[in-house]
Amino acid sequence: MASLLLCHSPFSGHCVVPFRSKSKVSFSGGYRSVRCAGDRQALFSRIAPVYDNLNDLLSLGQHRVWKRMAVSWSGAKEGDCVLDLCCGSGDLTFLLSEKIGSRGKVTGLDFSKNQLLVASFRQDLLWKACYKNIVWVEGDALDLPFPNGYFDAITIGYGLRNLVDRSKAMKEMFRVLKPGSRVSILDFNKSTEQFTTTIQEWMIDNVVVPVASNYNLAKEYTYLKSSIREFLTES
Ligand SMILES: C[S@@+](CC[C@H](N)C(=O)[O-])C[C@H]1O[C@@H](n2cnc3c(N)ncnc32)[C@H](O)[C@@H]1O
Repeated sequence: MASLLLCHSPFSGHCVVPFRSKSKVSFSGGYRSVRCAGDRQALFSRIAPVYDNLNDLLSLGQHRVWKRMAVSWSGAKEGDCVLDLCCGSGDLTFLLSEKIGSRGKVTGLDFSKNQLLVASFRQDLLWKACYKNIVWVEGDALDLPFPNGYFDAITIGYGLRNLVDRSKAMKEMFRVLKPGSRVSILDFNKSTEQFTTTIQEWMIDNVVVPVASNYNLAKEYTYLKSSIREFLTES
């Protein structure tokens, strides 16, 4: 049975959700390059050059704290083989890399080549010996190119909400996890409190979108509101 735990920060509408896997181990998989969910793929490629700056600006750096929490909740430890799904420019991948050290291996997977280029550029720029344990994979979260029961832990930051088929993605995560290991999901959640929802949507309309419009990305960030509306509610 999967265990599910939700942790909400009071104002932001963020949640971190770890759950345990019961998957069995057997082999499948191989690497493939993908072209799917075209609109979203194009959207994330367009925002890749400014994605990190906007995250820092719009969350006032707070997303870094949530990302550390997500890594800690994943249960990843020294020497583990771990996956950062929908890794984008690699924030969680780098944190995982530090956590598991040179004896471990971390795979950052994303379907946006531009995001992966930014991630690998940052890997060179931030050079740390442990970052040699990172492999970047262009792949689809809905059809993971890994064998069953391969990973000791998975993180997915602001990714689940953006997937076209979340249930398929969850099945894939369970499949590639070792039995008893965890996925740590960090994302915006839809509040059941009208007040919180109003504040969240006001922030998107009046802060996020105007700031993004300075980078000609207003349309791309307007999508944030609808994606949160369609996502999970607090439990
Ligand atoms: C909002 S970004 C999050 C990036 C990073 N995890 C972070 O926390 O900063 C969402 C990422 O999910 C990726 N993504 C969306 N759908 C995907 C899919 N089906 N397969 C792989 N990556 C996907 C996008 O390309 C994008 O880089």
